[in-house]
Amino acid sequence: MKSFKDKIAVITGAGSGMGRSLAVQMAAEGALVLLSDINEAGLAETRKLIGSGRCKTYKVDVGDKEQVYAFAGQVLAEYGYIDVLINNAGIAIGEASLMEIPLEDFERLININLWGVIHHTRAFLDVMLTRPEAAIANTSSVFGLMGIPTQIPYCISKFAVRGFSDALRLELSGTNVSVTCIHPGGIDTNIVANGIHYNGKKDVTVEKFKELVMTSSDKAATIILNAIRRKAKRVMVGPDAKLIRVMTQLAPGVVDREILRRRANLSL
Ligand SMILES: NC(=O)c1ccc[n+]([C@@H]2O[C@H](COP(=O)([O-])OP(=O)(O)OC[C@H]3O[C@@H](n4cnc5c(N)ncnc54)[C@H](O)[C@@H]3O)[C@@H](O)[C@H]2O)c1
Repeated sequence: MKSFKDKIAVITGAGSGMGRSLAVQMAAEGALVLLSDINEAGLAETRKLIGSGRCKTYKVDVGDKEQVYAFAGQVLAEYGYIDVLINNAGIAIGEASLMEIPLEDFERLININLWGVIHHTRAFLDVMLTRPEAAIANTSSVFGLMGIPTQIPYCISKFAVRGFSDALRLELSGTNVSVTCIHPGGIDTNIVANGIHYNGKKDVTVEKFKELVMTSSDKAATIILNAIRRKAKRVMVGPDAKLIRVMTQLAPGVVDREILRRRANLSL
């Protein structure tokens, strides 16, 4: 996809962070951006940055299957098709071991981070296959490349998004639809502040996260959009993500030891 000009793009989780930056940059390039989020105030701020001419906003909980298909139905009734789907919405969770994490939070995270991606893709894929060229981009994480203690639900969801994307890409090989899997490192967004936290640790966790981030959400969006344009299979976003990818491939044992050494500082 050479350019996003005159393309119709759905971006989930566009009320904050990378979703907002993606929306602003795609609209500036001439796309019509259809933005969803559970947070209406955040969506309204994004709309203010873009102007209503090139964007439309929808309140959708991506973790709720009925809402996702109703949203897709509304979009297709209004516009007939989309060219780009960015499955960006996601939530993080504070530190909690497998036995500590409440089951309802575990299920909620999987519904948002994984099933949200699957349902949006199933809802739009048939129509995307009829377009001259189309792109799906799914947000995984560096936590989809390595296992992190006290982050089991998040790691499961992000490994699964990677598996889903890799398998779907091959299923769609030879079609007009490209599939890009996005692996951000630490990006300066509200992901930790917006997350589910335990034991009153939220403030400390947000502070620790702010010290770890290496890339702004605007810079991340630029990297992601370049990857979608060139139909990249996967993209590592940020220097930390690039290093983690190489290390998990070449020296997974070293990565495990380093994670255990630093575990007190890892909280996303
Ligand atoms: N920031 C990072 O360091 C980082 C690293 C790796 C992966 N990611 C992933 O990047 C994606 C974007 O996150 P971000 O960092 O911009 O965080 P963010 O919290 O700033 O933005 C995420 C957006 O998703 C929305 N959202 C959450 N639950 C939702 C739901 N049920 N339905 C609809 N919208 C919902 C939030 O309201 C928010 O606007 C997420 O999938 C996240 O897991 C982020």
